[in-house]
Amino acid sequence: MQATDWVIFGGTGDLSLRKLMPALYRCEEEGRMVEGSRVIATSRGNLTQEDFLAQVKAGLQKFLAAGEFDEPTWAAFSARLSIVNVDLSDISSWTELAESLKSVDSVPVYYLAIPPSLFGGVCASLSSLGLVSANSRVIVEKPLGYDQESAEAINGEIGRYFSESQVYRIDHYLGKESVQNLLALRFANRMFENIWDCNSIDHVQITLAEAVGVESRGGFYDGAGAMRDMVQNHLLQLLCLVAMDPPNALDADSVRSEKIKVLRSLRKITGDDIARHTVRAQYVDGEVKGQVVDSYIGDLGKPSRTETFVAIRAFVDNWRWKGVPFYLRTGKRMSSRYAEMVIQFKPVTHSLFGQEQNNQLVIRLQPEEHIYINLMSKDIASADVKLRPIEFEIDLAAECNAPVADAYKRLMLDAMAGNGTLFVHRDEVDNAWRWADPIIAGWKKNLAPLSYYAAGTNGPEAAEKLMRDDGREWHQQD
Ligand code: BG6
Repeated sequence: MQATDWVIFGGTGDLSLRKLMPALYRCEEEGRMVEGSRVIATSRGNLTQEDFLAQVKAGLQKFLAAGEFDEPTWAAFSARLSIVNVDLSDISSWTELAESLKSVDSVPVYYLAIPPSLFGGVCASLSSLGLVSANSRVIVEKPLGYDQESAEAINGEIGRYFSESQVYRIDHYLGKESVQNLLALRFANRMFENIWDCNSIDHVQITLAEAVGVESRGGFYDGAGAMRDMVQNHLLQLLCLVAMDPPNALDADSVRSEKIKVLRSLRKITGDDIARHTVRAQYVDGEVKGQVVDSYIGDLGKPSRTETFVAIRAFVDNWRWKGVPFYLRTGKRMSSRYAEMVIQFKPVTHSLFGQEQNNQLVIRLQPEEHIYINLMSKDIASADVKLRPIEFEIDLAAECNAPVADAYKRLMLDAMAGNGTLFVHRDEVDNAWRWADPIIAGWKKNLAPLSYYAAGTNGPEAAEKLMRDDGREWHQQD
């Protein structure tokens, strides 16, 4: 494989220090950095190389897991690192970067860890300096844009200089092992795919719960809210993987086109349905794991009506999923950090024992990557014909005798290898916004009230009611 030049625009920012540098360090540690690869960070400040290295080192020591940092790996990694001071809006300041990139024959991967308003200008400068060729790649983060229109404009600007196959839109949830494992579970096991439809599945729940508040990201978050930050991207991507038809191959085009079909089948939620099918809420002060924490408004330091919690009853209007609700839920400052997808099966078609409980498949993404399968079995301790539910628990890390991989590392390795399967296509972004926009617009008109929930709980009463109204309840984390 050819060496890679990682060029991180915004290389000294939060995303870079918190996620990208640790991911690249891990590639180094695993010997996955091809000889001659470099990591070039751009920054507006006049940072010296020495100060930059000190910043990255401190970041790694903070954000890598305990015991992961070691001096020999750092020595190898830091030898690849350099800082270039660039004013992104002034092309005359790009000379050093351009010369450095042109001096070697590496594959350039441009990571735009900068606000989307700068994407177009940066891509234009790269192109005018002759730094975009057929093998260049560009990586951008979610949420892409603010709504369908702005996303379309951003994608259009990038698309002027990079073809779709050169654009890698990151949704880091797609890099999580258990998310990828969902494809293996579904399509490598005959026993699941044959019952993966409205004939056998009662409903699906997807929960992404966080214990943290908005922390230092209030500026961004208050303009976005949970819908744009989590639902339009992470939650819908997970929904797509649960709901999509089998792709004919695992390449990027085949997988993405099945996901796009799901997004296009999502029933639009408009008018009165916004109050019926959606819940939006904000946390007030409370207690998380025994610690008193402030309200969202307290964290933010100003009044706001931005939602920090969303619950939605969604429907995929196609042959496979007719009438099956997909309950989506996410929130900050919930009782704990956990993420899971729950596939709730229907009752057996004819009850022989009168004691059956419905089967359930739970794919836990966080905090641990486990799979639970609930079955009914005979209770052999009983002389009578008595059934008991039994649970199979599969611990992926223990089963494979490997630690759970960092999602960013996985995705960055894929980008290095030119594999776009786990990245998001422009049409996915577009269709996800087309579904989310009317809901956000309805909320703006107050078509669904803003509810409140105490920090440290599982969200507002309205979210419980959403399930209760359907005679169901949210799956409780064990
Ligand atoms: C990010 C959101 O995309 O995902 C954050 O912007 C959120 O607000 C984060 O905290 C959650 O990611 P994870 O992997 O910790 O569940």
